[in-house]
Amino acid sequence: MSARLLPPSDESIRGAAAILRAGGLVAFPTETVYGLGADGFSAKAVGRIFEVKGRPADNPLILHVAEAGEISGIAGVVPREAWKLAERFWPGALTLVLRRAEKVPAIVSAGRDTIAVRVPDHPVALALLRATERPLAAPSANKSGRPSPTSAKHVMDEIGDRIEAVIDGGDCRIGIESTVLDCTTERFQILRPGGVSADALSEVLGYLPGLASEEQGASPGTRHEHYRPSCAIHLFTGFPPEVRRGEGIVTLTQPAPKAEFSVRVASPEDYARRLYDLFREADALGLERLHMERPPYHDLGVALNDRLLRAAGRSR
Ligand code: TXA
Ligand code: MG
Repeated sequence: MSARLLPPSDESIRGAAAILRAGGLVAFPTETVYGLGADGFSAKAVGRIFEVKGRPADNPLILHVAEAGEISGIAGVVPREAWKLAERFWPGALTLVLRRAEKVPAIVSAGRDTIAVRVPDHPVALALLRATERPLAAPSANKSGRPSPTSAKHVMDEIGDRIEAVIDGGDCRIGIESTVLDCTTERFQILRPGGVSADALSEVLGYLPGLASEEQGASPGTRHEHYRPSCAIHLFTGFPPEVRRGEGIVTLTQPAPKAEFSVRVASPEDYARRLYDLFREADALGLERLHMERPPYHDLGVALNDRLLRAAGRSR
């Protein structure tokens, strides 16, 4: 099988919705990364996501909906603070973990009694959700453990032979995944830093949500090896290290040194947007090592540092 690469037209969105309703898999763009979508009410279709990605069975998926109101149908009691967050940040890069309603097949949340849900901020994703008329379970459209795709080409290259269609919506605007926030504890906790910062959340919550420790097991996804290119990633701050043959470098505050692969990103936002593509480029060039400057640890820099540390094989 080879996926049909569809333009983001009304006609292809209708076609993609029909594929999804029939139990097929369609990758689609969001503002964060490309998602691999399946009908969130079909255990069978969702099962195929796990197969295609080689995803560990204990790693739950995010449900995507077109409007905040739809969470009443898939979640149990929703805390008032969670509604406020939805109102403030949706559509957007914030995923809320809530109690799961019976109606949602257990496989979506890997058997947990919670679900993760968000409204993506992308016209194609929203149009697809409206046309399909059901929640779409959608992890990032990469093989498990690999960098998330931020273009339709990334998806085609990696899993194009195993799914029905990919809708091409161009490059993703944010480039790294959504913030996952656990709303089932008294004080909400960040399970995965992402496109919405803790500071922004604190403006609604009235307190700064902490980052859950990995040992607590609240976010199974962060336990598994993640976001790894094939080349070794070496992180640095301050003055750039020496770049040898077969190595590359990415800088943010420092001028790009002379090297066969040397990129200076313009800002933390630009860094996030290009991060996974830089990983893929480094691999395509067969680089042995990529030196990467760590961004300052605030706003989007928190999520960026998280992904960089994981790529380097270190935890927070
Ligand atoms: O930006 C994003 O979030 C993208 C786009 C496509 O929406 N999706 C994405 O999905 O990154 P995925 O499957 O690659 O990551 C989902 C993360 C994982 O770390 C998973 O463990 C966590 O969310 N998660 C999902 N459901 C959960 C639940 N019920 N409880 C705790 N963590 C959950
Ligand atoms: Mg992922």
